[in-house]
Amino acid sequence: MKGVLLAGGTGSRLYPLTRITNKHLLPIYDRPMVQWAIEAVVKAGIQDIMLVTGGTHAGEFLRLLGNGHEFGIDRLSYGYQERPGGIAEALGLAERFADGEPVLVMLADNVVEQSIRPMVDAFGTHPEGARILLTRVEQPEHLRHLGVPELDAEDRVVRIVEKPEDPPSRFGVTGIYCYDAGVFDVIKTLEPSGRGELEITDVNNHYVSTGAMRYDVLEGFWGDAGESIDAYYAVNDFVRAYGANKA
Ligand code: G1P
Repeated sequence: MKGVLLAGGTGSRLYPLTRITNKHLLPIYDRPMVQWAIEAVVKAGIQDIMLVTGGTHAGEFLRLLGNGHEFGIDRLSYGYQERPGGIAEALGLAERFADGEPVLVMLADNVVEQSIRPMVDAFGTHPEGARILLTRVEQPEHLRHLGVPELDAEDRVVRIVEKPEDPPSRFGVTGIYCYDAGVFDVIKTLEPSGRGELEITDVNNHYVSTGAMRYDVLEGFWGDAGESIDAYYAVNDFVRAYGANKA
């Protein structure tokens, strides 16, 4: 399986910090944010990684990460998104990199306390369809900023609602996904959403509708450090106190 790290976007929710740098280069405790996602992917056993970014600070990723060897990456490729067209559009740039293999996709502003290896291993044994990682979220206000799955009586995902007014469950969809190589054909069928972007939730709902979506529930802390300035500091405080990416 190959890894795709998505580190683009305008980071508008963290303005004005993100006027002068890319969100994923802002510090989380003692290192730039993106390094936590890299560590998560490498510790999941994936060393062939593409980082997709965009905007005016793309060169700084090269300066930080170089060929990736220092971070345990065997082969690090880079993709450049010409305009912020959404997470699914950014993933589409990795088609030739994936070259028919399944992919682990991680939004580089996501930080996890526990290893994501169990999910990657589970998908690796049956690399067909898609697999998402859910996290328990207590506050409805927080769920309104995330993708939220609706589950049926047998706990199967019926659909995922992006940023719901009325969250249909107490689970958030994290930015950590496994897909088979068919994902790139799914992306080509998408229409831009109301915010003018190709949405990863539309990709996931495609897999839900064909009955090919599975999920795991993450234990321990999960944070999206790009969600808001308060979320950014909550992730910083957590990682400083307890660390991240534990075995
Ligand atoms: C994206 C996804 C959303 C998911 C979140 C996790 O939202 O669209 O479904 O819950 O990442 O980080 P965004 O951060 O782009 O608003």
